Amino acid sequence: MGNAISSLWKGITYKGGPGHYAFILHRLTGLGVALFVILHIVDNFVIMFGEDAFSEVLHLYSNPVMRLLEVFLIFSVIYHAFNGLRVIIMDFWAPSSHVQRTLWWLVWGIVLPLSLIAAWFTLAPSSV
Ligand code: HEM
Ligand code: HEM
Repeated sequence: MGNAISSLWKGITYKGGPGHYAFILHRLTGLGVALFVILHIVDNFVIMFGEDAFSEVLHLYSNPVMRLLEVFLIFSVIYHAFNGLRVIIMDFWAPSSHVQRTLWWLVWGIVLPLSLIAAWFTLAPSSV
């Protein structure tokens, strides 16, 4: 356990710069979305118990805590998708790795406004 914590700490504090933080965030967002999909398959399954049960489960998603988690989910999907494209470009076109930092800022330039717009709609008061 002590070893696991110290290697986790080394992984976080490793002085790799933006590329390292891009990687950590890519892993966290990938795992986060994968975990959500499991929950999502379970929530979809509830339709087997009828429309009322399904509606009740879906209502859980409109409480403030779940909405905040949805904001993180949407951010995770958008970040993972665009940073994933950056990784794919670097994998297939080596010269682009020399501008990987610039590409990462470009990713943020796309991800941040899209996430903020999505967050606005997700957190807005709803009538349901
Ligand atoms: C537009 C869609 C997606 C793109 C372009 C994409 C791209 C990528 C790429 C390029 C990697 C490898 C990263 C590396 O080599 O450093 C990766 C890793 C990963 N992806 Fe995705 N991905 C997408 C969707 C998803 C989805 C929907 C999930 C979850 C359900 C997911 C979960 C993961 C996980 C868990 C990893 C491993 C991360 C790691 O090893 O650190 N990805 N993705
Ligand atoms: C908050 C965002 C999301 C909402 C509101 C949502 C909503 C829904 C709804 C209503 C369905 C049922 C569609 C139907 O049966 O006609 C569905 C199915 C599904 N969604 Fe999502 N979804 C969301 C995010 C995601 C994400 C991020 C993924 C993938 C990473 C995903 C993957 C799926 C899959 C695989 C199914 C089919 C599940 C099954 O048939 O068991 N969803 N979603």
